[in-house]
Amino acid sequence: MTLFDCADQLALRVPTSCGRAGHCHECVVEVTRGLESLSPKSGDEAFLRGNYRLACQAFLLGEPSDVAFSLLRRSPKILTGSVSSGPVECDGRAGYGIAMDLGTTTVVLELVDLRTGATVYQSSFDNPQRFGGSDVMHRISYDGGPFRGELQKAIIGAVNGEIRELCRDLGIARREIVEAMVAGNSTMRDLFFGLDVQPIGQRPYKSITEARETTALEEPAHRLGILADPQARIMSPPLVASHVGADTSAALIAIGIESRREIVMLVDVGTNTEVVVGNSERMMAASCPAGPAFEGGLVRYGMPGGDGAIESAEFAGGSLEYRVIGGGEPRGICGSGLIDILAELRRHEQMTPKGVFSAKRREIAVAPAFGITLSREDASNLAQAKAANFCGQAIVMRKFGVTPKGISKLYLAGGFANYVNVRNAIGIGFLAPVPEERIAKIGNASLQGAKELLLSERKRKLAETIVRRIEHVELETQPDFFDLFVEGCQFKPMPSGD
Ligand code: FES
Repeated sequence: MTLFDCADQLALRVPTSCGRAGHCHECVVEVTRGLESLSPKSGDEAFLRGNYRLACQAFLLGEPSDVAFSLLRRSPKILTGSVSSGPVECDGRAGYGIAMDLGTTTVVLELVDLRTGATVYQSSFDNPQRFGGSDVMHRISYDGGPFRGELQKAIIGAVNGEIRELCRDLGIARREIVEAMVAGNSTMRDLFFGLDVQPIGQRPYKSITEARETTALEEPAHRLGILADPQARIMSPPLVASHVGADTSAALIAIGIESRREIVMLVDVGTNTEVVVGNSERMMAASCPAGPAFEGGLVRYGMPGGDGAIESAEFAGGSLEYRVIGGGEPRGICGSGLIDILAELRRHEQMTPKGVFSAKRREIAVAPAFGITLSREDASNLAQAKAANFCGQAIVMRKFGVTPKGISKLYLAGGFANYVNVRNAIGIGFLAPVPEERIAKIGNASLQGAKELLLSERKRKLAETIVRRIEHVELETQPDFFDLFVEGCQFKPMPSGD
């Protein structure tokens, strides 16, 4: 019996397109217990390290109860609540298009009617490239090894799985999909298009497309193996520079930065946070490698925003009261919940700015009935992730010559942005102290921008003009970067600079 057979018995749907022959590499699972109770890795599994296996190739040597595993691509979540409405500029063409935000951790995809501009389907799923590492640097190094191309194969396979599903659900033919716009950070995007990503991983950290006349990309679907009209145009917006990728240029289109006279700031939080400050005249951008601490990694009970995540918390009567997404029992804490807990601990003097808990405690009980805690080590990992966000905002504002009060609008974008308590985020120095009423939570701006670019030729041209105007700031080369980082590690508000 293989792990695939076990999954069948549990009614778990494992992706496959090779009839379990070991060729498609879509059935990768992470074995979390009992690796030694499985047959040795087969030749088809040579590309997998550690505890990752192909479900169709891993045979059980003992009892099924000895082993636990999880799918890399969990069943997609069909999202309906956040489908954007409102008028969009639309050239009005026949057929369907796909707008995609291709994140390191999560992929969100929309099917758009090109004639009307309406979104007819939206779903999100985990990026199945996790077997190559959880951040862009590890994925770059994986792709530089003997198994180059496996990461591209994984993401294309997952996208095709989605296309199959949506075509079936909506009763449309694949050939009706005639365009796609893929926005992602420089590494995710170049991997998707099968480009060599090694130059992004070493100084001066540039995509190979930066040597070309434009960093925007376009390939016919058949060349990438996408299940669509074979001649469908699979496009990507241009990159800004270095790690500031096509997701940021798409987000800038979504906020309409080209028509802003006043100075605005975009903070797109994620495993990598991007910061852009500017207006129609002048723009500056930086990428901050924050890591996954606020996204569910490096924190013992951290988890991405989803059912079972504590999304907000407040001290009441000596203990933390919290709200759980989906209303059931808590399984962990997502980014917005972590920001609330840190801010509340500071507010009630249960933690110093340096993250030391009062009364020499090693951990704080968050949801005692469910064993969910926050440890000193968690706080320290969160401090470093926060410091990266802090440095990005502080340095780009300083270089631009503006203080937080001079920012007319702060657009907060990214996975958990819509759930963040802004006052708490400012309180711990996660966000610049821009007056609260000027902060707009805009959710997945990159996806919104990808959709706008999909629908309008004019906006595609505009994106080219915008990225050429942006000055890229390298945070690490600032002489006082280290001092600022140390300051940013403290849980206290960023200086207002006035
Ligand atoms: S099902 Fe295709 S490799 Fe396992």
